[in-house]
Amino acid sequence: MKNNPVELVDLPKIDDPRGNLTFIEEERHLPFSIRRVYWIYDVPGGQTRGGHAFREQQEMIVALSGSFDVVIDDGGESRRFHLNRSYFGLYVPNGVWRFLDNFSTNSVALVLSSTFYDERDYIRDYGEYLRYRKSTGTH
Ligand code: TYD
Repeated sequence: MKNNPVELVDLPKIDDPRGNLTFIEEERHLPFSIRRVYWIYDVPGGQTRGGHAFREQQEMIVALSGSFDVVIDDGGESRRFHLNRSYFGLYVPNGVWRFLDNFSTNSVALVLSSTFYDERDYIRDYGEYLRYRKSTGTH
């Protein structure tokens, strides 16, 4: 499946002395319809989340509070994105290995997903991921 590349999306930011406001509209700021929203919070220092790829699921990850890193691994190279502003969203297409680390105290990672939760969509073994990339011709 051909997909958009990993991209840091600059979301609208309404500056206001009463407090700022940011929003996301599906199909406009992300190239998919939102099926599910989940968030990761209360992450103890030094912990890592993720560590898998999805066959179908596309995501947008936002650091709603605090900061953390998202590491994207295409099977050859890896790229580290430091998310520390709630007006940036990291678009992660399907078929891409990722993990999250470097969580600050009280950080919240908001994830907008293109699919309902389905464990069968996960590739949790890195060796299997490399074989998957080879078989799909993406690497
Ligand atoms: P997982 O996706 O592995 O967490 P992360 O990638 O953020 O480290 O999910 C952890 C557990 O939570 C796993 O048992 C599946 C479950 N889960 C759901 O039941 N629904 C969901 O929407 C998500 C994201 C996870």
